Amino acid sequence: MMKAYEKYLSEVLIDEATLQARIKELGAQVSSDYNGCEDLLLLCILKGGVMFLSDLSRHIHVPHMIDFMAASSYGAGARQSSGSVRIDMDLRMDVKGKHVLVVEDIIDSGYTLSFVIKTLKNREPASLRLCALLNKQSRREVDIEVDYIGFDIENKYVFGYGLDLDERFRNLPFVGVARLDALTDE
Ligand code: IMP
Ligand code: MG
Repeated sequence: MMKAYEKYLSEVLIDEATLQARIKELGAQVSSDYNGCEDLLLLCILKGGVMFLSDLSRHIHVPHMIDFMAASSYGAGARQSSGSVRIDMDLRMDVKGKHVLVVEDIIDSGYTLSFVIKTLKNREPASLRLCALLNKQSRREVDIEVDYIGFDIENKYVFGYGLDLDERFRNLPFVGVARLDALTDE
């Protein structure tokens, strides 16, 4: 039996074991960098960052809080960011005085994260760093400094492990490259 995602999948880019091993390393690095920190807040950017946050958090051995924020860019096609970003759901916590680590699935143009960073900086966190599972450096349009990167990837549309293909397949345990021809066929 063919699995539902298979017709959209061109190749598995990062398999489950590779993802998990890298996330464990990132967790160790974050734990060491924030050793002794008493008010670390992991801020997950919804929805794509949710799988990553949940695995990363379990590898961070410094006590920390978690919260969520949803942001989206509008005005462009579904698979491309525009310069206009809005906050769809703000976090509940006050970030003032906290050490905030933003956890994001992927950085593409950089518009989403740069808007999120600007918004958070105005609220005076004690520190603000970024952690992205995937980075498409060749697509960058705004300069942002990313402190932790899981994997640098080529300019291909990917899905799975939090990333969606028209809102589906976020649950896959691996990151795959999408066959966009199969999608537009429908
Ligand atoms: P940016 O604002 O262009 O950096 O776009 C970042 C957002 O676009 C990410 O948080 C994702 O939600 C989405 N995105 C960018 N590239 C991909 C991809 O290859 N697959 C799925 N979502 C993507
Ligand atoms: Mg996202």
